[in-house]
Amino acid sequence: MQKVLITGGAGFIGSHVVRWFVNKYPKYQIINLDKLTYAGNLENLRDIENKSNYTFIKGDINDESFILKLFEQYSFDGVIHLAAESHVDRSIANPTEFIYTNIIGTVNLLNAARYFWKDNFGNKIFYHISTDEVYGSLGKTGYFKETTSYDPRSPYSASKASSDHLARAYHHTFILPVVISNCSNNYGSYQFPEKLIPLAINNIKNQKEIPVYGKGENVRDWLFVEDHAHAIDLIFHKGKAGETYNIGGNNEWRNIDLINLLCEIMDIKLGKTPGTSARLITFVKDRAGHDLRYAIDSSKIQKELGWKPSIQFRKGLEKTVDWYLSNEDWLNNITSGEYQNYYDNQYVKR
Ligand code: NAD
Ligand code: DAU
Repeated sequence: MQKVLITGGAGFIGSHVVRWFVNKYPKYQIINLDKLTYAGNLENLRDIENKSNYTFIKGDINDESFILKLFEQYSFDGVIHLAAESHVDRSIANPTEFIYTNIIGTVNLLNAARYFWKDNFGNKIFYHISTDEVYGSLGKTGYFKETTSYDPRSPYSASKASSDHLARAYHHTFILPVVISNCSNNYGSYQFPEKLIPLAINNIKNQKEIPVYGKGENVRDWLFVEDHAHAIDLIFHKGKAGETYNIGGNNEWRNIDLINLLCEIMDIKLGKTPGTSARLITFVKDRAGHDLRYAIDSSKIQKELGWKPSIQFRKGLEKTVDWYLSNEDWLNNITSGEYQNYYDNQYVKR
């Protein structure tokens, strides 16, 4: 039996990964460790919370002695590390939390794995989940490859880059079996509505302005979150220690074009006259240091592990919209309280 620690499993991607592993591998014991910050929500896992192969533990990866005790108690066979502070705008407003969780928290986990796995690494694997933002910003052409030099440009991406370097250093120096993946922008159900797509869906639903930074010309490469979970499954089981895999949707959109498509879908779903939602688009003050373009070359994982994105973008967006429209309580619970303060401080009209 495999005992797998998944950190950050109550967040957006983590909850999809936990669900995927709990359902697909009934013989594994999946331990979800999450601090339940504003971004972590046990509602994301209601459908699997009573499964016998699933355990939730509330805890902080920054707490070194707690992490050591956890590793001692469970003798994990593998780690999938997703816990992080993940929102670029919050890292601009308050970088320090990103340094603690994304760097120190990752080192605490690497140290615990090293200590308890000792030199008997066997088939163990420490899988560190990262982002394409570590590569910096592309111009109009080109793609991020696994060999692209790091050039992080926000406190968030710098903290993730730092944790990637440390994970690689632990592999190189201590032979810890570490594998890393760097993925492009995810979208889908259970994403916290501070991120562009759920924020826009929520605002359109409430007939509020849709804040688009700058002129909306920045480009992101969007991937349906379940396709990411599938890639994580393949890398966890078949990826080679010491290797990095880039994961992306091969699906580049300028923000303004994406928002227009979303508005078109929302008009249909809400039974509104075409063009109604698009009238809510409002250009606001740009994000500081806003990276122009991300685009992933995912040929390595495609060739070596046989992965490819499965969901066509419009279909994935429609599924996502349907989910948000039929999970009003989830959305309302999450957008009360702290979210309102965050929102009021974040957006300044141009
Ligand atoms: P998220 O913000 O939705 O979830 C993060 C989770 O980590 C939350 O459940 C939170 O409670 C938990 N957490 C935060 N600090 C913690 C701590 N100190 N101890 C324990 N748990 C803590 O993030 P997400 O979008 O699901 O991203 C998950 C991972 O994937 C991150 O490492 C992120 O860098 C990476 N990633 C995200 C994307 C994306 O598009 N969202 C793309 C590529 C990579
Ligand atoms: O590329 C992977 C990264 O994708 C992950 O590592 C991050 O955790 C994740 O948050 C995401 O980062 P982005 O900054 O690209 O995502 P976000 O949804 O915040 O923004 C997407 C684009 O939309 C970006 O160009 C900024 C813009 N935007 C965002 C918000 C929240 C707006 O124009 N208006 C907004 O209100």
